[in-house]
Amino acid sequence: MKYKALVATLLLTLSAGAFSATKLPHIVILATGGTIAGSAASSTQTTGYKAGALGVDTLINAVPALKQVANVTGEQVANIGSENMTSDVILKLSDRVNQLLAQDDVDGVVITHGTDTLDETPYFLNLTVKSNKPVVFTASMRPATAISADGPMNLLEAVTVAADPDAKGRGVMVVLNDRIGAARFVTKTNATTLDTFKAPEEGYLGVIVGGKPEFETRVEKIHTLRSVFDVRQVKTLPQVVIIYGYQDDPEYMYDAAIAHHAAGIIYAGTGAGSVSVRSAAGIEKAEKAGIVVVRASRTGSGVVPVDSQQPGLVSDSLNPAKARILLMTALTQTKNPELIQQYFHTY
Ligand code: DGL
Repeated sequence: MKYKALVATLLLTLSAGAFSATKLPHIVILATGGTIAGSAASSTQTTGYKAGALGVDTLINAVPALKQVANVTGEQVANIGSENMTSDVILKLSDRVNQLLAQDDVDGVVITHGTDTLDETPYFLNLTVKSNKPVVFTASMRPATAISADGPMNLLEAVTVAADPDAKGRGVMVVLNDRIGAARFVTKTNATTLDTFKAPEEGYLGVIVGGKPEFETRVEKIHTLRSVFDVRQVKTLPQVVIIYGYQDDPEYMYDAAIAHHAAGIIYAGTGAGSVSVRSAAGIEKAEKAGIVVVRASRTGSGVVPVDSQQPGLVSDSLNPAKARILLMTALTQTKNPELIQQYFHTY
């Protein structure tokens, strides 16, 4: 009897030892709002609900399976629809992520966010996070109260990716709908469907199959640890506005940008960034006023070619919203047009 009890104790101690040897990674979830924290009056309501209604603890408690993949803790950074994200909030978020990832006891960060500007904030962190530990954004298209809400699975998959040793050094990622996208490339392509995040030219970094991330590709563009941008001491980002190109686009949009002391303008141009005579006059005026102008494309994909006959710099393959993020970030350290153009080709 005594012998049996001794063996049982020994086995228990050994299994506890084995358990602590496979300690789960510590992933911090930073919540900022969006539909993933959205609440509607009925389970069939998938539009017209309140985004950013639930707190981070509610999101975590709704997914008990998180405990099997990571030791998860949560913080509320904001609770807003992402159309109300501001450069002040993204600066604060970048700062907090840098602080957390500098801690030895944090292995990765997951950020919950609205989908509407989910091509912007992740790209800002891709440029400004000083760590190769995983940073993964996630979101949802259906509110938490809907039938077949996509938020809980997206959160579980985002934490699974952040906890995976293979996720290190790949730049900031966006996980939704079983896909792992690169912050540099993905954008929202459909107003309401679940499979909305795509990178039409570059595709995904990988997929999640049976609860396991499968990485397929790496991003060539510079990000995170190799990025020259450091905004840890920056208190406000320079003002950069986007002016859309279209038939009859009026020159007075540029006058407004000049009058409001914009530091930069992204011209969301037609086709490959072509410029109407009215916009050409506006851009010339803006450049004379010291504003840096970058031509992007409103088409949704493709590279804007360098063309010495056209005014301004070019955004490479960055869509107008992402180009604005890069120009704001670049202007925190230089106004040199050659250097800024170089950044657009390499980040
Ligand atoms: N207004 C939206 C936002 O927070 C809700 C859309 C969403 O999160 O899917 O971006």
